[in-house]
Amino acid sequence: MKEDFLQAMQFRHACKIFDAQRKIPDADLRFILEAGRLSPSSFGLEHWRFIVVRTQELKEKLKEACFNQVQLSTCSDAVVIAAKIEDLKPGSQYVEGRFACLADRPEVLAWIRQFYADYYVKISVEQWSITQCHIAAANMMMAAAVVGIDSCPIGGMSVPKVMEALDLDGLKYVVSLILPFGYRLNPQPQKHRLAFDEVVEFR
Ligand SMILES: Cc1cc2nc3c(=O)[nH]c(=O)nc-3n(C[C@H](O)[C@H](O)[C@H](O)COP(=O)(O)O)c2cc1C
Repeated sequence: MKEDFLQAMQFRHACKIFDAQRKIPDADLRFILEAGRLSPSSFGLEHWRFIVVRTQELKEKLKEACFNQVQLSTCSDAVVIAAKIEDLKPGSQYVEGRFACLADRPEVLAWIRQFYADYYVKISVEQWSITQCHIAAANMMMAAAVVGIDSCPIGGMSVPKVMEALDLDGLKYVVSLILPFGYRLNPQPQKHRLAFDEVVEFR
């Protein structure tokens, strides 16, 4: 089990070009999206919406909006992770619905509501929502790696252009990350990482 997990970690890399002829089977794509759906999120608010881009026309538009990164035109499917904004306002129907799952006693619910309202005014909601989506992204990329599917996290984009291509309402969402999925065309390059002791300390 440990070995399998580490093998998938080693297999995953930021794939720079996919084999445009190979398509991901639907069951595998759903498996990947399920890993995103099941991800943890702050206050259980599930900050994400996953938009699966499958048509070549839309993939080309995304490529243009992402400084012509060819991952987007060669992938089988690209998952755009839109981070919620408007829904996250304290007292919104969405927040109330999520909090109802967290607390079953009225006094606990009241405490969470107040805690959240205090938290909300101290943070940049957009940035917070974007980072929550990154957790779902990591899980999706790992799920893909487990079944031999490649990915590349794409943060290099003109967010307004991506929003326009997908007709996304800027009051409701901001694009967090785009994940093209597919099968590598070229061999994987060597992985560069700092040594264990450079990034880990025990106290
Ligand atoms: C938030 C984020 C945004 C990234 N954006 C891009 C991108 O726009 N294009 C790209 O080719 N790689 C992108 N990467 C991939 C990183 O460059 C890559 O993960 C890193 O260099 C380590 O290499 P590896 O993933 O192949 O091990 C991004 C990674 C993260 C986490």
